[in-house]
Amino acid sequence: MKRVLVVTGGGDCPGLNAVIRAIVKRASKEKDWEVIGSIEAYNGILREPTEIMILDEKAVSGIHFQGGTIIKTTNKGGPFAWPIKNSDGTWSAVDRSEEMLRKMQYLGIDAVISIGGEGSQRISQLLYEKGCNIIGVPKTIDNDLSATDTTFGFQTAVQIATEAVDKLVTTAASHNRVFILEVMGRYAGWIGLNAAIAGGAEICLIPEIKYDVKKVLEKVESRFVRDRGFVNIVISEGARPAGGDFATTSNNTVGYNNLRLGGAAQRLAEELTEAGCRQDIRTTVLGHLQRGGIPVAYDRVLATQFGVKAFEMVLEGKFGEMVSYRHPDIISVPLTVAIDQYNFVGLDTALVKTARGVGISFGD
Ligand code: F6P
Repeated sequence: MKRVLVVTGGGDCPGLNAVIRAIVKRASKEKDWEVIGSIEAYNGILREPTEIMILDEKAVSGIHFQGGTIIKTTNKGGPFAWPIKNSDGTWSAVDRSEEMLRKMQYLGIDAVISIGGEGSQRISQLLYEKGCNIIGVPKTIDNDLSATDTTFGFQTAVQIATEAVDKLVTTAASHNRVFILEVMGRYAGWIGLNAAIAGGAEICLIPEIKYDVKKVLEKVESRFVRDRGFVNIVISEGARPAGGDFATTSNNTVGYNNLRLGGAAQRLAEELTEAGCRQDIRTTVLGHLQRGGIPVAYDRVLATQFGVKAFEMVLEGKFGEMVSYRHPDIISVPLTVAIDQYNFVGLDTALVKTARGVGISFGD
């Protein structure tokens, strides 16, 4: 029997379970393959005792619409930077990749499918360079990977953010208020831009276009006549004023190396008040609601396509590559290409032109 190990790494994302299920279902058509999952990314392999689970058809039955990941995930540490506590109470990181590869060999693992975002695929490339038969499956709600047209999870996040705008519009209109909705997306404004267009927001602030608070205020005021009116602003967590930096929240979690974004909406509310805004302002931070729960149908379909393709790439020996969606095809691209470029919102793209066309202000 040959064994393929499945790992889910980084932040969770609606559709992860649909990928796992598709891998298992496709593998079950081959008589000589068994699928196993490592619990919490590679931690399951690295821990003593090992934490792995057999992924057979029974284990994945009916999980295609479940959020999260049945094999759990983490965005801390990893085989190349495993956190260890020093005797003085401080933490440092050690490289346990060789040990992990030896352990995988001992467990009879012939191939690995790593479902994860940019950080996880960087780990995939390093493991591939060390001889691991690995295949990547892209995952992110942020849509910030450039080697694929899109990823599963993104449409679900946009849907949730749009529903939030829809809800805030009615309360904003009832109270003559300015509402600022902060959405995720890290350094890319895809979720914000799509939710602003779909939800009919008047202002959309994204990381790719630094805003001028005076321009934002002009647009806000243009929406009020004798203090009657309302405005909905969608702001990406990575949005910044001209000359300003990212809004961040403190983060002292061991092994977590990402900048933790947060606070952009509150900062904008303060900037608007300081600039002379006379209207009542309220902020809402949508946060992890964008990542939880049931994936929309589009994401389930894409996730299923990715899972089937990933296992077929194992059969074809296309190691060191990542599954990618290039409409209308599911293809494979080298991992090196996949991690090469961040997918920012292009300033001249149709989506930005559409937003401007319907009068959405980017505060520029
Ligand atoms: O990359 C997905 C994402 O949800 C980002 O949009 C967000 O900045 C980050 O992860 C939040 O990470 P955490 O779950 O560690 O708070």
